[in-house]
This record gives sequence, C-alpha cells and structure tokens, in this order.
Amino acid sequence: TPRVFSGIQPSGGLTLGNYLGAMKRFVEMQNADDGFECVYCMVDLHAITVWQDPAALTRNTRELCAGFIAAGIDPERSILFNQSQVPEHTQLAWIFNCVARMGWMKRMTQFKDKAGKNAENASLGLFGYPALMAADILVYHATHVPVGEDQKQHLELTRDIAAKFNHDYGTNFFPLTEPVIEGAATRVMSLRDGSKKMSKSDPSDMARINMTDDPDAIAQKIRKARTDPEPLPDNEAALEERPEARNLVNIFAALSDRSVAEVLADVGGKQFSEFKPMLADLAVEQLSPISSEMARLMEQPDEIDAILARGAERAREIAAPILRDTYRIVGMVGA
Ligand code: TYM
Repeated sequence: TPRVFSGIQPSGGLTLGNYLGAMKRFVEMQNADDGFECVYCMVDLHAITVWQDPAALTRNTRELCAGFIAAGIDPERSILFNQSQVPEHTQLAWIFNCVARMGWMKRMTQFKDKAGKNAENASLGLFGYPALMAADILVYHATHVPVGEDQKQHLELTRDIAAKFNHDYGTNFFPLTEPVIEGAATRVMSLRDGSKKMSKSDPSDMARINMTDDPDAIAQKIRKARTDPEPLPDNEAALEERPEARNLVNIFAALSDRSVAEVLADVGGKQFSEFKPMLADLAVEQLSPISSEMARLMEQPDEIDAILARGAERAREIAAPILRDTYRIVGMVGA
C-alpha cells in the first residue's frame, strides 16, 4: 500500500491555512478508499530551528495533537506521533546532511525568508531544515506527501536528496516522493493582505483565523477582511487580478468541499456585504466543533501523551529497519 507522510510544526497555534492546506487533506487521505497508510507527525525538532519557549513547545505539541484528532485523524487508523520520540529521523537526517549540498540549501526560499537579512546569525538547524524534512519522509519510504503550496520547493529537494543518495550508492533504495498539493486552498492568504501567506507568525492577529478562535472572533475577522469594492464575479478567470476576493472564495470552496467554479455559480453577482456573513457562518459551523473538541482533549494531557507514545512505537517499527538498511548501504559496521 502506498504510504503517506506529512508533518506540522508545533511552533504556535494552528491557523486556517494549516487546516485547509494540510490537516483537512490529511483526513481525506486517511479516509480515502485507495487504502493509504498514513503517518502524521508533530515536527518539534523542526520547530526549534528558531527559538521556542520550552513550556510553550510542550503545550503547542499537545495542542497540535489535539488538533489532529479533533479534525478527524483517528490515531488507530493513522500513525500520529511526535518527531523527537522517533530518533531514526535525526539519524537519517545526518546521512542526508552528508548527501545534500550547501548550494541546494542556500536556494531554499523558506530559509531566506526565515533567516532574513542576517543569515550569519541563523541557526545551523534552520539551514539544514530541509535535510531533516527529507529524512522525515524517506525514513518511512513514503511516496505521497500532502502539503500546502509553500512546501513545494522542500519536496523537490527531498527528491533531489533521494536521487543523489541512490546515485552515489548505486541503489534505488529511496523512492522519489510525490507532492500532493491539491484542493481550493493550497495557499490561504492573509486576511489583511492578499499578497501575503496566512501565517501563525504574522504580527497582526486579524490577518489569520486561528483554530482556537471563538465564533465572534471568526466573524469579526471575516467582516474586517480586506476586499475590493466590486461584487463577486461569476467565473474564475475574473478573480485573477483580485487576490483578496480570490482568497475568500477559495476559503469558502475549501470549507464547503466544493470547487471555486461551483461556489461562483452560486455567489457570483453578490456584494461582499452579503458574501462575508455567509462565509462567517460557514467558517463557524465548520471550525467550532473542532475548536471545542480541541479544548476538551487539552483537559486530558496524559491521554494525549499516551497517544503520542503509542504512535511513536508504531512509527519506529517502520523506521528502524529502513534506517538499518540505509546504514548497511552506506557501509556502517554493526548495521
Ligand atoms: P508548517 O508547520 O509551516 O505548516 C504545516 C502545513 O500547513 C501548510 N500551510 C498552508 N497551506 C495553505 N495555506 C497556508 N497559508 C498555509 N500555511 C501553512 C503547509 O504547507 C504545511 O503543509 N516544513 C513543514 C513541516 C514538515 C513537513 C515534513 C511537511 C516537516 N517535515 C515532512 C511534510 C513532510 C512546515 O514548515 O510546515
């Protein structure tokens, strides 16, 4: 059976972008008839490539786990775990650090964005981030990786690492991974600026919807979302030059499991004053059951920790033999 892997950083709260671009897709792949084996990870080791307060990291990791479950990930059917509890990730990442080239890493736009102007002062972990990400995926021989648009370059690098390893060692041990970037919301934009990604690190909380926002906050953020003065068009092509309108329609489509064309067939011609309350109602209806379930699960941190411990055990059963085979291919004594 084809294996799916994906990860989310516990580096702050979950946003609507994480939910629509990633988590909702993870649930769909778990529930698909195609019979994927799904492995989903809280990537705490990636989170600490930039400073994380320890108590906040613990809390955010548990809250992310609660988010996965509340969104519909079943920890029996899928493997749900925390990255640092499966040491094979870091072990394979070291091998990949020796396969990947400095020049490849330097070209990563996420590194350039996160390191900012003073790249000399970025952590070495931030620079090597994509090699750990390749290890996350390849230590399971995963073939399908559902992500948002912003991770595309990292997944291309994952293929480059797999291909170079295979070439250097004369093997076809690592599969070339397929990115799965699908649906209406592969790039959810800021509510304040249609040219910026919706992000947990945006200084303005009004720019994003958090999965823990209450219904009033959700409605207020949508009401205040930036738009243009024109009514909604009835066809997709007319959204091209209207990033804010496009973003709200994409969100509506993703939340209602419809295509953008279907949504526009319904709402084309409406003013934003009419469309925004419809979107707010839909968002509240879809998101508030998730946030209340998250809050309920967060009252039982021991249960969350037990789920993560069990998930890590199951993950290691897959990862350990693949790491051992890798060591053997590389020529390490004792493997
Ligand atoms: P992270 O934690 O930044 O984001 C988690 C997932 O959410 C998606 N996403 C979005 N999708 C649409 N619109 C947005 N505004 C938006 N913001 C975030 C991301 O594309 C991602 O799918 N490097 C990864 C974590 C990672 C990983 C992996 C992913 C580590 N190892 C292995 C896949 C496979 C990251 O920073 O995600």
